[in-house]
Amino acid sequence: MPRRNKIALIGAGNIGGELAALAAREELGDVVLFDIPDKEGLAKGKALDLEQNGSVLGYDAHIKGSSSWDDCAGADVVIVTAGVPRKPGMSRDDLLSINLKIIRNVAENIKAKCPNAFVIVISNPLDAMVFELKKVSGLPAERVVGMAGVLDSARLQLFLAREMAVSIKDVRAMVLGGHGDTMVPVLSYCTVNGVPVTQLIAKDKLDAIVTRTAGGGGEIVKLMGTSAYYAPATSAIAMARAYLYDEKRLLPAAAYCDGDYGYKDMYIGVPVIIGGAGVEKIVKIELSAEEKANLDKSAGAVRELLEASKKL
Ligand code: APR
Repeated sequence: MPRRNKIALIGAGNIGGELAALAAREELGDVVLFDIPDKEGLAKGKALDLEQNGSVLGYDAHIKGSSSWDDCAGADVVIVTAGVPRKPGMSRDDLLSINLKIIRNVAENIKAKCPNAFVIVISNPLDAMVFELKKVSGLPAERVVGMAGVLDSARLQLFLAREMAVSIKDVRAMVLGGHGDTMVPVLSYCTVNGVPVTQLIAKDKLDAIVTRTAGGGGEIVKLMGTSAYYAPATSAIAMARAYLYDEKRLLPAAAYCDGDYGYKDMYIGVPVIIGGAGVEKIVKIELSAEEKANLDKSAGAVRELLEASKKL
C-alpha cells in the first residue's frame, strides 16, 4: 500500500522550523521535528503551531515534535541542522569541535534508525560535518550530501540580479568548493538567460560581488547575531524534493569525491545530479586555470578542517 514519505528534521531550531514549514507546505510528506530532550518543548510547540498552520493553508502533513529517535525510524529523508550556529566574529570553522561531537551522535542514530534515508547535512562547518556523518553512519556516499552550493549560488544570483537590475528568474550561477571563505563562484558558468555575466558586468563590480558572496553568511550573522535560516532551509528542501521526485536536477552540492576533480576521500562542493538514487553523478565541467587553482585552494582548506577533525 502506498504510504506518505517521512521526513526527519534533526534539530528544531531556526533552520529546522523553517524546513518543517516548507516541507509541509510543499506536501513532501509527514514531518518529525527532532531535538534534544532539553528542547523537546520547542520541537513539540513548533510542530503543533505548524499543524495548525495546515488548517489555514490546507495541507494534510502530520508534524510531530519529538526527542526520541524512535520517532525518526524509517525516514525517507533526514535533514541535519543539529549543532550550534555562528555568533558574530566566529568563523564556521570555530564551530568544529562543538558540532563534531553532535554530528557523531546524530550519525550513530541515523545508522541505527534511518539506514535507508537520503541524508542532507546543513550543520557547519559543512564539509567536515558531512564527511564525519558519512564516516560514522556508514551510509553509502550517494545517500549523504551537504547543502551549501545551492545557498551560495542563490546569494550570488541575487547580487548579480541586483547589479544588473534584471529579474532573479533569469540569473543562473554556480558556486563550487568548500562552504567557507574560499568558496569558488564560477563566473564562466554564470549567465543571464545564457548570456555570460562577464559580458554584462564590469570586472571590478564582479570582483566585489564574488567577495560579498564568499562572506554572504557572515554578513547576515553580523546583522542578526545568528546565522541565516530562510534561504538555507529552502535550498535543502529543493535538494530533498529532487530526491523524492526523482527530478535529476543538476545542482552544486557537497558530494563525496573519490578522485573526482583530483580530490580523494573528501567532501567538497561540485556539480551533481540529484535524483531518486540520491547523488547519481558528479558532473565534470571544464574550469579555467584560475578557477581550478581556486578550487584546489578551497580543497586545501577543507583538507585542513578534516585533519583538525581527526584530532578531536
Ligand atoms: N541532536 C539533535 N539536535 C541537536 C543536538 C543533537 N545532538 N544538539 C543540538 N541540537 C539542536 C539544538 O538544540 C538547536 O535547537 O540543534 C538546533 C540548532 O538550532 P539553532 O541553534 O537555531 O541553529 P540553526 O540556525 O538552525 O543552525 C543549525 O546549521 O547553518 C548551520 O551554522 C549553522 O551549524 C548550524 C546549523
